[in-house]
Amino acid sequence: MSEMTSVVSIALVMALTAGGAVAATSVEKAVALRQSGYKETGKSFKAINDELKKDAPRTKLIAAEAKKVHGFSLAIPKWFPKGSGPESGLKTRAKSDIWAEPAKFAEATKAFQVESQKLRVAARKGDVEAIKLQVKATGGSCGGCHKPFRAEEK
Ligand code: HEC
Repeated sequence: MSEMTSVVSIALVMALTAGGAVAATSVEKAVALRQSGYKETGKSFKAINDELKKDAPRTKLIAAEAKKVHGFSLAIPKWFPKGSGPESGLKTRAKSDIWAEPAKFAEATKAFQVESQKLRVAARKGDVEAIKLQVKATGGSCGGCHKPFRAEEK
């Protein structure tokens, strides 16, 4: 092996090793990011439901939380890079069907984006009855994804 070739191959091995390490970290990051994102989604959605139980729900507060929920819905496509499912060995409830049936998963994501946007609009208008109906529809879109794509809690 010439000196040049060995330098190149050492550089290549180093690049591959570094690449592997980076990949593992990015999968971990992706799982952590989506789980905290969903936690926040859950918090905001609960805040909306709690507010609706009051005699005079503050629709401004609901609108602010609905805006966050919609923001999370838009981020979902970035939360599921390949390799971040159960095969990662990480603690995750994401089912492998997410990657096996990407069109179906995209559809479930889209439904959530559409319903949460309608919820924002209803909240901005301040119509409590319309908000309540739209909260149901939005909640339905959470279930529409959890049922096929989220595993039971262990
Ligand atoms: C397009 C699919 C999809 C939609 C829509 C969706 N979720 Fe989820 N959700 C998931 C998946 C998959 C997980 C599991 C993530 C993991 O463990 O890596 C999850 C996890 C969660 C968690 C647990 C987070 C944790 O790790 O503690 C909460 C809470 C949650 N979702 C709430 C909601 C709410 C509320 C909505 C609707 C307002 C919603 N989700 C809509 C797919 C979805």
